[in-house]
Amino acid sequence: MIRHRPFLFAANWKMNMNIKEAGDFFEKFSRLIRSADFSKEIDIPIAPPFTLLSLLQSKIFSPLSLAVQNLHWLNSGAHTGEISPSMVKEFGVKYAILGHSERRQFYGETSSAVAMRAKSAIENEISPIVCVGESKGEYEANRTKEVVSEQLRNSLKGIEPNLKTRLVIAYEPIWAIGTGLTATSEIISSVHAFIRNELKQLLGSEISHSTQILYGGSVKPENIQGIIALNDVDGALVGGASLDAETFFNLISLGIK
Ligand code: PGA
Repeated sequence: MIRHRPFLFAANWKMNMNIKEAGDFFEKFSRLIRSADFSKEIDIPIAPPFTLLSLLQSKIFSPLSLAVQNLHWLNSGAHTGEISPSMVKEFGVKYAILGHSERRQFYGETSSAVAMRAKSAIENEISPIVCVGESKGEYEANRTKEVVSEQLRNSLKGIEPNLKTRLVIAYEPIWAIGTGLTATSEIISSVHAFIRNELKQLLGSEISHSTQILYGGSVKPENIQGIIALNDVDGALVGGASLDAETFFNLISLGIK
């Protein structure tokens, strides 16, 4: 199979890690990454809590990069508790995870807010990693594609990605996140192909072709090879398995083999 897009393995640390733990992680992880011979094009964004951006900025080197787990659409103003694109750019942030299901489910995040965040991220040269995915009930009712399509269309409304600031989509079935369950190869392939086709309709074939589509939901070293081998899977968004340096490194190494 010919690959047209670089691999992308993103770590979503969620609300985990303090300064000491992040320091310990990087002591091991940097050594492992430096010793690796990545012959393929790869990007490894790490999305820590905002409190660790300053520390991680001093520890990041290519092919690692910095990401955030959310982002406001404005660059400043009266928005207590929010963080802006220009603020995170000071730390060299390259990616922003947007519309994660935990934000959609527990914090009232809507697709139209995700679209505002994604549009602003792109304007600020930060690549949005827009998350979509169905709940268990929707999956069981055979509504996966309908839900994913609705989320995509509304979360990407008005955005203008370009080939420099790539758009990234993460398909994460909610029932697979942190549960140890993963979607079958059949589901992943068919939803990823569906997403690629939706992107073509929404944003044209050039953007659809350059957009990396990640799979997320209980990805670990044991299952990454089966997942990455599927058509239209360009990498993974990894939660739990990204918190341990060796596990995350093994996952990446097996993924790009
Ligand atoms: P998980 O989380 O790998 O722990 O399932 C993935 C995510 O929520 O992005």
